[in-house]
Amino acid sequence: MAKFNPFRPGSVISPGMFVGRFEEIQVAEHALLQTRNGNPQHFVIEGERGIGKSSLCLWLDYLAKGDFPYDKINRLSFVVVSVELHEGMNYDDIVDVLLSELKRQIANRQQLLESCKKAWEFLSRFQVGGVKYDRPAQPVTDHRRLDELTDVLVNLIEESGGSIEGVAVLIDEADRPASAANLGQLCKLLTERLARRRCERVCIGLFGLPGLLGKLKDSHESSLRIFNILTLEPLEPPERIAVIEKGLEEAARKNQFETTISEEAKAMIANLSEGYPHFLQEFAHCAFAIDDDNNISVDDVLDGTFKEHGALNQLGKKYFADLYIDQIGSEDYRRVLIAMAESLDGWVSRQAILERSKVKEKIVDNALHALRERKIIFLNPRVRGEYRLPTKSFAVWIRAREEQKAVEARAAIQAAPSS
Ligand SMILES: Nc1ncnc2c1ncn2[C@@H]1O[C@H](COP(=O)(O)OP(=O)(O)OP(=O)(O)O)[C@@H](O)[C@H]1O
Ligand SMILES: [Mg+2]
Repeated sequence: MAKFNPFRPGSVISPGMFVGRFEEIQVAEHALLQTRNGNPQHFVIEGERGIGKSSLCLWLDYLAKGDFPYDKINRLSFVVVSVELHEGMNYDDIVDVLLSELKRQIANRQQLLESCKKAWEFLSRFQVGGVKYDRPAQPVTDHRRLDELTDVLVNLIEESGGSIEGVAVLIDEADRPASAANLGQLCKLLTERLARRRCERVCIGLFGLPGLLGKLKDSHESSLRIFNILTLEPLEPPERIAVIEKGLEEAARKNQFETTISEEAKAMIANLSEGYPHFLQEFAHCAFAIDDDNNISVDDVLDGTFKEHGALNQLGKKYFADLYIDQIGSEDYRRVLIAMAESLDGWVSRQAILERSKVKEKIVDNALHALRERKIIFLNPRVRGEYRLPTKSFAVWIRAREEQKAVEARAAIQAAPSS
């Protein structure tokens, strides 16, 4: 029987395997505690693809519900409305998914059903005939839906008589709807309406790609002001090691035998990933899968990472296919990208690219032009002749791919007969 592989690149991390994010958790926890005391606070968690936004969202969901204590003893008891948005959703669709999730949350809590008669009376009648995601985005003319949402929240919190501490609204993939869906305005108006009704126990958390901030701003000039904004960064070196170790501990529990890993192999996964959680999971997953003696070695990591269907190709297909594999065949272009990746997603001058890549001037210029056209690199609008890669993780991926060549070269030197 195949052994249980604890590393799951494709799915959100379960709270038991979750590592790091202390600062972000602290800020969100503080927001929830303040909200509980009638001083609502809201936050936005933004970050690159695969950096761990949804995993953190799930963790906060559990925390707010009280599935585990926030200070080793005490638990929160929020009703959590956790939803995911989609492209093409408009203002009313967003309010609708919030209402249906709220309904689902209340429906299976007998005690709330009994105490919150008014709120439930509305929610039980509330039906969404399958939210349609392709409606044209309509300008917001009336706020009837939003008023209904406000009413339900006010009723729920008043009627619960303190049995719930508040409502936490967690919105993942918040960057997906167009600016015209007006999420920023929705959040701002909702908080203002609740304040006017003296119902101050609703906390809103948004999660999305960096583009989210721009969209919120487009939607309502001052909507950003209501949020505390946090950016998720790659995991620190000790946290990367902890991800691997926690995974192997879980594997040992489930498989009832241990899979060990050499220190060098652990360090190699941690380094190659540069702290990107989805890279860590993918590299660890492939090394674990390829290992056949229950001891993951450097060779297992190398094989798992670089073989044809290995980790790097998986990541490339999932995240960067459109950027790298499909669009650029040329070796020279690749060298230009490698030269740029040395600076991660920082600005690099044309001169530095020339020096680092050792590619001819004319070819570099052609490559820069073509890469820019295809939006694989950005041109600095403020400084002439400076370019950068779109994301750090793309740079990390390019660098990890090159690592293979370095390893092969080292192996070739070792294998060569000394004369
Ligand atoms: N704190 C963490 N500890 C360990 N693994 C993590 C952590 N955060 C995320 N991961 C892992 O990294 C991968 C990506 O995580 P997640 O899906 O949460 O990221 P995301 O930012 O929501 O991605 P996307 O932008 O694609 O929605 C998953 O495999 C997840 O298990
Ligand atoms: Mg996500």
